[in-house]
Amino acid sequence: MGKDLSKKRHIAKTITWRIIATSTTFILAMIFFRDDPNAGEKATGVAIAEATLKMLLYYLHERAWFKIDFGLLSRRKKKNPKPKHIYKQDFSIDQTMRKQRLKQNPKVIWFTGLSGSGKSTLANELEHLLYKQGYTTYALDGDNVRGGINQNLSFTSEDRSENIRRIGEVSKLFLDAGVIVLCSFISPLVKDRKKVQEIVGEENFIEIYASTPIEVCEQRDVKGLYKKARAGEIGDFTGISAPYEAPVNPFFEVDTSKIPVKDAANSIFDKIKEKITINYG
Ligand code: ADX
Repeated sequence: MGKDLSKKRHIAKTITWRIIATSTTFILAMIFFRDDPNAGEKATGVAIAEATLKMLLYYLHERAWFKIDFGLLSRRKKKNPKPKHIYKQDFSIDQTMRKQRLKQNPKVIWFTGLSGSGKSTLANELEHLLYKQGYTTYALDGDNVRGGINQNLSFTSEDRSENIRRIGEVSKLFLDAGVIVLCSFISPLVKDRKKVQEIVGEENFIEIYASTPIEVCEQRDVKGLYKKARAGEIGDFTGISAPYEAPVNPFFEVDTSKIPVKDAANSIFDKIKEKITINYG
């Protein structure tokens, strides 16, 4: 997943296009020089010079355009315009009723941090605690969401934004269902996390920053991805070849190389307890 095959693709395109273009040039040269006894020789000379030079130029041109986003977004927007004539249906069972039934205040607990920083492990531990205390929860995480609902998304910054936006929308549905959602996504950009906050409502968004340093994450390398990223086998890898922007003011911050996950989960639980519990007093 996320392997950057663009160079191979551009080389393949360069070759296939050159076969078409140079064959055309050769045929045209043969037609123009048909009265010349050396037509074949001349046409071959032109074809060889052209093929060599233009393959190089075509490849460089293709690589240059690959780095430019110009026109991409607007093209996408045109393909997928925001649908008109959509009306929200009000159902008779609403969030308040579901909250009462589940006896909890649903929230989105959002874990952000580098790959290998311990986000999912923390979320798993916290979910376990919540479950034992009778809360209704659901956990969403990068590796499973990307295998399903977001399987068409890559790791370009544009696709990561779309990944996070969709998860924000899914979380909003869970909130409406009255469920506490635990989301573990790298979500490297402040603007994307802010967008989730807007989607689910600021008051419902609890940000937990797994601030484990990259050296530790890389040393752990649970999935072997850092090694591949260093070897250039994976492009746009967060912390190596793609940026990570730390939260400015997270609700809770934990470096899992310093604090045992169980202790961190307990501390988070103590801090969020009030927010997720309905006070009948
Ligand atoms: S996010 O940046 O869009 O928020 P997300 O959390 O969904 O990422 O997925 C991250 C997981 O995908 C990582 O834990 C890792 O297993 C895998 N992965 C594959 N390619 C990359 C990449 N280029 N950068 C980061 N993670 C990657």
